[in-house]
Amino acid sequence: MTHFIRGIAAALALAGIATMAAGHGDVAPQPVNTDALPDVGEEWLIENPYRADKVGEEIWAKAVEIGDSAYNQNCARCHGLGVVSGGLAPDLRFLEAAEYGDEWYMERFQHGYTQDGTTKMPGFGEVLGQKAGWAIRTYVETRPEDGALDAHTARLTAIRDELATGGGDPAKLKEELAAISTEVQTASGAPVSDSVVRRAVLFLDGTPEGSKHAAEALTIGLSATH
Ligand code: HEC
Repeated sequence: MTHFIRGIAAALALAGIATMAAGHGDVAPQPVNTDALPDVGEEWLIENPYRADKVGEEIWAKAVEIGDSAYNQNCARCHGLGVVSGGLAPDLRFLEAAEYGDEWYMERFQHGYTQDGTTKMPGFGEVLGQKAGWAIRTYVETRPEDGALDAHTARLTAIRDELATGGGDPAKLKEELAAISTEVQTASGAPVSDSVVRRAVLFLDGTPEGSKHAAEALTIGLSATH
């Protein structure tokens, strides 16, 4: 690991610890800017309006990005960083990416859950709003399932090394990564996963900087799977 990567890893770990330390009491909900997403009206929908087959890939990608930040600020302290549950609350990656899963998701998002007078989960409907709710849903359902990268570890490590040392043809490597990215499965049944492989592809813009960032994304992703 380079110092830089180690720095990022440490920062991520610290951010995680800080969030956890905030505990599960009255933590102020973090506002979410959803201006970049199309409006969905006043009435609460029962199906995710931001799937790629409805709004196109660009808006879908925006929803994933906004949902990522919104989830990790508001939900991760109970449901786990990156939607990998530590056992405190259910693992949300398994909610089916279809109307049935959506309806259940939205019911909990809006109203939370109270048992015997104790709030196990606060409601977020009024404070964050519907657009943020669906953006988080879009992010959650695109998480790769456990072990989704295992079959590709050896090749991804080799590609990472080539990108990190400036070897290989970045355009060819990008094509190969894009192909691998489509094979990474979700647990929700959503057709596309937002894995580190997809993130690496997004970084590859033909510049040396892009290759470096892609290599870093792969390094972090590969270390997280072990
Ligand atoms: C204070 C901890 C806490 C926070 C913060 C929290 N949740 Fe929960 N959540 C829970 C618990 C506990 C349950 C299990 C409740 C139950 O038994 O049904 C749950 C259940 C759920 C469920 C139902 C899952 C299932 O499989 O039945 C969804 C969906 C959900 N939460 C979404 C969210 C989202 C989205 C956020 C952030 C906007 C969030 N939660 C924030 C604690 C939390």
